[in-house]
Amino acid sequence: MSRSALVLPALILLAIVLPAQQTSTPKTPSYSAIPVDAAKAQNPVKSSPESIARAKKWWNLDCAMCHGAEGNGKGETARDMKLTIGDFTDPATLKDRTDGELYYIIKNGHQDMPPEGERVTTEEGWDLVNYVRSLAKKKPNADQKPQ
Ligand code: HEC
Repeated sequence: MSRSALVLPALILLAIVLPAQQTSTPKTPSYSAIPVDAAKAQNPVKSSPESIARAKKWWNLDCAMCHGAEGNGKGETARDMKLTIGDFTDPATLKDRTDGELYYIIKNGHQDMPPEGERVTTEEGWDLVNYVRSLAKKKPNADQKPQ
């Protein structure tokens, strides 16, 4: 085999590797504090009624005062502290966030969002990600009457 036969595969490899490195810049500047590996982390806990039930306990204890019981961001503490919090019942609010980003924010906090830290286990942290996702209300279908 001649030496030049190796050049093409090497170039193809470079073409794959180089752009992959460039795309590691976070899309939203305010989330630049989240390590890329953390943002890409896959959710190991399947969203199930059990996972949602486990998270609900923590949500009511640690989250609802700010995010509101329904997740609309209008909890009492949020009002008292004059915090601006996104409405999680709107599917658009978290659509650009990965599960890994949500997990990281829940565990480590972000600006006015306090860290949950060691209060919850790793599994409970992912339960809370599933819970936050479950708050998004489905867009009403044409065949569904508004309530
Ligand atoms: C003291 C009020 C407060 C409490 C308590 C609180 N949060 Fe937050 N949370 C915030 C604020 C404020 C933000 C927006 C932070 C920012 O500026 O990015 C936020 C952001 C978030 C985000 C990211 C939203 C986004 O737009 O990406 C998630 C997810 C979240 N909170 C989940 C939780 C969960 C789960 C709990 C309970 C374990 C909780 N929060 C408890 C105030 C709170």
